[in-house]
Parts: sequence; structure tokens; C-alpha cells
Amino acid sequence: MSQLQAQGVVKRFGGLVALDDVSFAVDPGELIGLIGPNGSGKTTLLNVLSGFERPEAGVVRFEERICNKLEAHELAQAGLARTFQVTKIFRRLSVLDNLLVPGLTDWTISRKDAADRGGEILARLELEALSDELASNLSGGQSKLLEFGRIMMLSPRVVLLDEPFGGVHPTLKTLMHGTIRRWNKSGVTILLVSHDMGSIFGLCNRVLVLHNGALIADGAAEDVRAEPGVIKAYLGDESMRAV
Ligand SMILES: Nc1ncnc2c1ncn2[C@@H]1O[C@H](COP(=O)(O)OP(=O)(O)OP(=O)(O)O)[C@@H](O)[C@H]1O
Ligand SMILES: [Mg+2]
Repeated sequence: MSQLQAQGVVKRFGGLVALDDVSFAVDPGELIGLIGPNGSGKTTLLNVLSGFERPEAGVVRFEERICNKLEAHELAQAGLARTFQVTKIFRRLSVLDNLLVPGLTDWTISRKDAADRGGEILARLELEALSDELASNLSGGQSKLLEFGRIMMLSPRVVLLDEPFGGVHPTLKTLMHGTIRRWNKSGVTILLVSHDMGSIFGLCNRVLVLHNGALIADGAAEDVRAEPGVIKAYLGDESMRAV
């Protein structure tokens, strides 16, 4: 059975069809890219998959659960976590405390164990030296890494990443690539949304393409990149052909 599945998903905002009969299935351990022009529905799809929006039609399944019927925090606790295009961290808390916010972590472990686990995760993300720093002092890329760390605290089995590389310094981007690869190698299934074609085609074997809310391609990265319909959807976007 696939681990994450969308079947005939439709999402409308008034007269606008943001997701138009979207269907696909993800197997455990995949690292999949999700691309498409601005406004094509990528964030909306992540919102529907993670329980932040309800579709008008269709079904989303995470393992044996029907996502349409669950709240986002229930799905996160069950093992499906996501990051946001506009980073959501607690800017007035320390870096470590961001990982320990009640409700975002496992309530069954003690604060000491949570702090130890948080420390290990910060070390993995090369943020340990900033543990006591206010999160507001982090760079954009470090904030994105902190968001990765926050969902790592939940030990998710599926992770949805929305534009993690936007405005990130190249050095940090390389660190993020390594983090994503290792996360995936440890068995975590990842769906990665990005406009950064170098990152998408460098990391992902399979790529999904949204255009005006419809899934216009789903296949091996090299096949998707060569598809005329995909190139047309990106017409004017040289980055697609530059990689
Ligand atoms: N809450 C909302 N209310 C009304 N319209 C919305 C809402 N959220 C998204 N939309 C519209 O739905 C369409 C898809 O938006 P979405 O944010 O999913 O695109 P995207 O592919 O993530 O774009 P980008 O690459 O710019 O992040 C757009 O036309 C957008 O304006
Ligand atoms: Mg978006």
C-alpha cells in the first residue's frame, strides 16, 4: 500500500480552481520533487495533504488514515509533518526552546530527555552553538533549518517541505541538501516543493508538475524535464533548461 495518496483532489477558492482533480501516490522512502509556476497550487496541495485545508472533493490518505478528516496537529503527531513557505518559528524564544514548545513535541518524554534530543538535532543541523540564541537572530536559512529541527522532534515518517531554499545562502543550501538526503536515507519519505531546479533535479528521482492546479507530469526526473508540456508551462523560466 502506498504511504501517501491523493485521489481526485479538488480545492476551490471562490471561482478559482486551485487543485483540479489531482491524483498521485507516494511509496515509503521516496524523495519526490513538486514543481510548477507561481500560483500553480503547490502550497495548496501541501495544505490539503497535511490537514491545513479541506478539499471540496477527493480523498487524501496517509497510511491507513483519511487526512481530510483529521486536524493538522493530529496528522503531525501521527507522523506526517510539514514546513511552511513563510517560515514559522517562535522568534522570541531561544533556538533550543523552539524545539521544546509543548504540543509540538512528544508529551510522553521528560523535558530533560526532550532537551537532550533537541541538542542532538541542533548538532545535526550545525546549530548547536546557537542553542541559547534568540530565534529572531537567526538568518533566513538558519530559520529554515530550525523549522526542519522542529519537525525532526516529532520523528515523522513523511515530511512535506515548502520552498526551503528561498533566499538561503549557498553554503547553508548545501547543508540543507545533505540534511534532506540523510533524512531520506534514514527512511523518511519526503515531498519537496521548490523553484530551485538545481536542488530539485539534484535531490529527487521522481518529479510531479502542477500547472493551473492540474498535475501535468509525474515521472522520473529526467523524463519530466524533457516533456514538452512541462517546458511550455515554464516558458520564460530559463532555470528549467539550465540544469
Ligand atoms: N486562502 C486562499 N484564498 C484564495 N485564493 C487562494 C488561497 N490560497 C491560495 N489561493 C490561490 O490559489 C492558487 C494556488 O496558490 P498556491 O499558493 O497553492 O500556489 P503555489 O504553487 O504555491 O505558488 P508559489 O510558487 O507562488 O508559492 C493561486 O491562484 C492563489 O492565489
Ligand atoms: Mg507556494
